[in-house]
Amino acid sequence: MADTVLYERSGHVATITYNRPDALNAVNGALRRDLNAAFARFREEEEAWVGIVTGAGRAFCAGADLRDGQGSTGEFAGTFWEKPTLNSFESGWEIHKPVIAAVNGHCLGYGLTLVTWCDFVLASDRASFGYPEVRLGIPAIVGAIRLPKRIAWADAMELLLTGDRVDAERARQMGLVWRVVAHDDLMDEARTLADRLVAGAPLAQRAMKEVASRAGDLSSLDAIRFGETMRSVVVATADAAEGMRAAAERRSPRWEGR
Ligand code: COA
Repeated sequence: MADTVLYERSGHVATITYNRPDALNAVNGALRRDLNAAFARFREEEEAWVGIVTGAGRAFCAGADLRDGQGSTGEFAGTFWEKPTLNSFESGWEIHKPVIAAVNGHCLGYGLTLVTWCDFVLASDRASFGYPEVRLGIPAIVGAIRLPKRIAWADAMELLLTGDRVDAERARQMGLVWRVVAHDDLMDEARTLADRLVAGAPLAQRAMKEVASRAGDLSSLDAIRFGETMRSVVVATADAAEGMRAAAERRSPRWEGR
């Protein structure tokens, strides 16, 4: 993996960092490839239970790199470096481990697209959010798919159709941001939340997140059937036995993720 995205794991917490600070972490071809590789590693790594994604420098991510691909066809060609796949940041990876976005600054375009896939959005009081695409004459398609599922219609349309940036507090009022914190406390707050999540049984968490993500696309009956199947799988795991044993013995459980 090149240095445009960093991957570090401490205990059960993996931190993925956009790392092109001189370009405000704009997404060029290399960064897109490295970002997808970092999340693939997070998905595969047994010891990684919770993810934090953040940006190096003063921005989270300023969206697509507006310089990348210039001159090739003259039509923003640089954004289409590879064919979209079901496991890319645009489509949302098939990852059911909890992920926290620690938004340290501007979070625009593709940056916001990634954030709308995360479970928790912790924002620095310096953060801003927006889809500038409409000002460039192009649509933010994944934003148009994902944002109205997450926040109220008019708030989603405000972001998508005006291209205006909103500050962290306004994004919190919209329900996009979970909590706004002082800039200097952002990563400590993210790690504290990650530690709270690590205290929960990882396989039970993943089952609930997968049921929560899929249920909306299923009929009620299918959602219940799917959920019951997931339950029967998870209750048969070593962690479920450990959780019940620890409760009976009045001690903290020791999760193994199996
Ligand atoms: N692609 C490529 N480079 C970018 C970039 C992008 N999307 N966004 C910022 N940069 C670069 C700037 O060109 C500048 O580089 P330089 O120092 O070599 O000139 C550097 O990052 C700092 O950006 P700057 O514009 O000077 O910072 P700012 O604080 O004044 O403004 C933004 C910050 C985010 C408001 C502004 O950079 C911006 O509007 N960026 C474009 C956002 C956008 O339209 N993204 C595409 C969405 S599809």
